Amino acid sequence: MVAKKRGLWLVGARGGVAATVAVGLAELARAGSEAATVGLVTESPLLAGPDFPSWNQEAPWSSWVLGGHEVRAGTLLEAARELERQNGALPVGLADRHATTLDAIDRRIRPGVRFRSGTAIDALTPGSPTSSATPRALVEQIKADLIAFRESNQLDQVVVAILSSTEPPTPADTLPTTWDQLNPLLDRAESCPLRASSLYALAAIESGMPLINFTPSLGASCAALEERAVACGTPLAGRDGKTGETLLKSVLAPMFAKRALRVESWVGHNLLGNRDGAVLADPDNKRSKIDSKDALLARLLGYAPQSLVSIEPIASLGDWKTAWDHVHFRGFLGVPMTLQFTWQGCDSALAAPLVLDLARLITLAEERGEAGPINALAAFFKSPQGAVSDDFGVQFERLRAWVSGLERSSVP
Ligand SMILES: NC(=O)c1ccc[n+]([C@@H]2O[C@H](COP(=O)([O-])OP(=O)(O)OC[C@H]3O[C@@H](n4cnc5c(N)ncnc54)[C@H](O)[C@@H]3O)[C@@H](O)[C@H]2O)c1
Repeated sequence: MVAKKRGLWLVGARGGVAATVAVGLAELARAGSEAATVGLVTESPLLAGPDFPSWNQEAPWSSWVLGGHEVRAGTLLEAARELERQNGALPVGLADRHATTLDAIDRRIRPGVRFRSGTAIDALTPGSPTSSATPRALVEQIKADLIAFRESNQLDQVVVAILSSTEPPTPADTLPTTWDQLNPLLDRAESCPLRASSLYALAAIESGMPLINFTPSLGASCAALEERAVACGTPLAGRDGKTGETLLKSVLAPMFAKRALRVESWVGHNLLGNRDGAVLADPDNKRSKIDSKDALLARLLGYAPQSLVSIEPIASLGDWKTAWDHVHFRGFLGVPMTLQFTWQGCDSALAAPLVLDLARLITLAEERGEAGPINALAAFFKSPQGAVSDDFGVQFERLRAWVSGLERSSVP
């Protein structure tokens, strides 16, 4: 079998998650690095066996090529070294071990686009003016970069992963519900409701490149762009990677429901010190994340307990996100009880393997001719597109059944 050559295009290519993806992929491509496979679902025995794809033969990690878009100055090597300094978010020495590979990726990073990205993201690039081009012209510019990446590296498949800073929310009532309504707005910058993440998404969709939206930004999570993805035959996976506190919610809330225990309130305080945390300090950008973290509770329990989610930037914590959750619940005869947990996770180390897993999995969807939201990938996201359940256990079994070929994803 001739192994395929695949490309992964990272939007936000010098961010914390992207730099960890780059170093992680370089480490995976190095023979004998077993530590690098920890946290990769597609490398676990749960997705292995005669019914499952043999990823390492069809497209080994060494055959993946990285490129991307970025709006910030600096280099990928600097971004990786910054992660090492942030309380060991990357093991010390790993960035320099892969300096040559990171430099090569840097040369494939193209200037990104900002469009209605919000003041917190604009502040990442002080002094650089926002383009006056129409949204359609920006989509064409992104498409040209994607196609040049595919052609110059002779890639069989390219996956686009949105890993850029969280944008402010896009209110649903400002979004046209069909592609025919949205399409003409792309020529009118002043009345187009989309932000940059959706322009990247549209470029990927129209280039036939499977899309992962790991951020809470809108991306392709709206009816008009999902319709466009189905028409273009492009699979979609989004949105907002489920790596920490929300992962625990999606495991624990079903337990309360299944034991008929009544959750009265669920309070989650999150402390975060990296650049993502700094962008989320802006109230608009923070709203996108809070909506994404809060929405699943009522769906999982069947009623809405009092809930509160806070996100505070605490610079000294670096990439080590700390979540403290307090769950107040009642048992038999109304007796009150409490569950509290503290989660201290290294954000980028939790996120990067999921991005790599998703890259593999969404190429499977493309090969199977599936398009639009791939609901079998819901286990990876806080606000999954087209999901049938928010329960992590249900989502994971659906993933296994889909990967083994027993079930298809819901294609219209
Ligand atoms: N780390 C996790 O566990 C986790 C979980 C779920 C979601 N996310 C989301 O993933 C995203 C990335 O997180 P991070 O920690 O890497 O953040 P980060 O701030 O380190 O990186 C984001 C990068 O995106 C760049 N960027 C911003 N706007 C851009 C644009 N329009 N075009 C191109 N590049 C742009 C920034 O310059 C920055 O380098 C965030 O939206 C975050 O909320 C992360």
